[in-house]
Amino acid sequence: MTRGQFELLPGIMTPTTGFNGSYLGPTVRVREGQNLPITYRNKLSEAVAVHGHGLHVPGELDGGPQRAIEPDGSWSLELPIRQQASTSWYHPHTHRKSGPQTYNGLAGMIIIDDENSDDLPIPKTYGVDDIPVIIQDRRFDDLGRLDYSIEDSEDGMIGDTIITNGVANASRRVPAGLVRLRLLNGANARYFRLRFDDNRVFHKIATDGGFLEEPVPIRELVMSPGERNEVVVDFSDGNPAMLVSGPRIQAVDDERRRDEGNGRRRNREFGRLGDRLEILQFTVDSELPAIRESLPRQLNSIMRPIVQSGWPVRRFDLFMKNNRRTGVFGVFQHNTEMSMGINRQSMDMRVINERVRLGEWERWVINSFDGSHPFHVHGCSFLVVSQNERPVAAEDAGWKDTVRVDDSAEIIVRFDHKATDEFPYMYHCHILEHEDRGMMGQFTVA
Ligand code: C2O
Ligand code: CU
Ligand code: CU
Repeated sequence: MTRGQFELLPGIMTPTTGFNGSYLGPTVRVREGQNLPITYRNKLSEAVAVHGHGLHVPGELDGGPQRAIEPDGSWSLELPIRQQASTSWYHPHTHRKSGPQTYNGLAGMIIIDDENSDDLPIPKTYGVDDIPVIIQDRRFDDLGRLDYSIEDSEDGMIGDTIITNGVANASRRVPAGLVRLRLLNGANARYFRLRFDDNRVFHKIATDGGFLEEPVPIRELVMSPGERNEVVVDFSDGNPAMLVSGPRIQAVDDERRRDEGNGRRRNREFGRLGDRLEILQFTVDSELPAIRESLPRQLNSIMRPIVQSGWPVRRFDLFMKNNRRTGVFGVFQHNTEMSMGINRQSMDMRVINERVRLGEWERWVINSFDGSHPFHVHGCSFLVVSQNERPVAAEDAGWKDTVRVDDSAEIIVRFDHKATDEFPYMYHCHILEHEDRGMMGQFTVA
């Protein structure tokens, strides 16, 4: 992790940080069954913890806040990769500093391959028809330098400029055939409602933790911070297309109006999707080798267990307000800075909030009382049962580790690795400013 300068805006250098470079980091590609050796070296002037988001590894290898690497220090580890083909990522998880450290450029993608992903007739040539797309938003001051100043701490750090794979106004030449995009919402706080400017149909093939059972045709998808989705887009017509976000669609307005009656401020983040944002311009280059086959009918088989009434149930209530009715009564209560929390507790490194049994299915019920929050769980992939009282949609019925909670969500989860009191796992809101303000808890698996 080093300091550098990077041209996020054309022609303007801004101070940044990155892994092995000035901004973002290398894509790490590894196979299921391999052990992945990594050494993190911290050449910055503050401590950084680095977490592998989406990896099923024991708590001691998870890179939570307990694993902060001091300036000039390093951490060498070997990650046993024992999970199916999927797209994960790595980013800072430093106590109360994940927001600014990620914002300045510390993040990268991790791609896991397996026999299934090798065999599927889908695009898989990295950088040609299999393209990582790390979407972030940033704000700049008058001199064009990165600006991390939060006006509304409930919203988190929202920028007005889209940075895709480290550049504004990103564009990409693609072959005249199927193109696979590994989409990562790497923004601190912004939700994206992604679609193409010509409203073309494309297929969602994977969620956070692996392939869907079958490709799901869609015209748009909402992604909250931390989520990954893989999609396949057909460019065989040779037409250019722009990946855009927003604008807000009418149905959301209607939904919000309907919900105003029941006292919850729902879909807050949806409201902030606002105007059209340009994410990535695609142009077609017929010289590039193209895959023209149609997508396979089956991509994966997902063993979805039947929910048993005897499974332990845990509830997680997400709060942003420090007040008596809904409030957070944790360690930051005395603090003038706004505190946020889960189950009336603000994150406290000295407190283990939950103790989970190894290898047993559980139901986790998450409720939001103030706006929409992406709820993320370390050390696992889970299955969504319902979102906002509706059964999970086909496009989200795959393995996930981050679920959008506009109102409520229920997931089923099982942990196959241990996490100790010394190195517990975390669950938290992936709006990084909410995480930094305490909307996070710790749990052990034993
Ligand atoms: Cu992507 Cu706990 O983080
Ligand atoms: Cu994580
Ligand atoms: Cu949140």
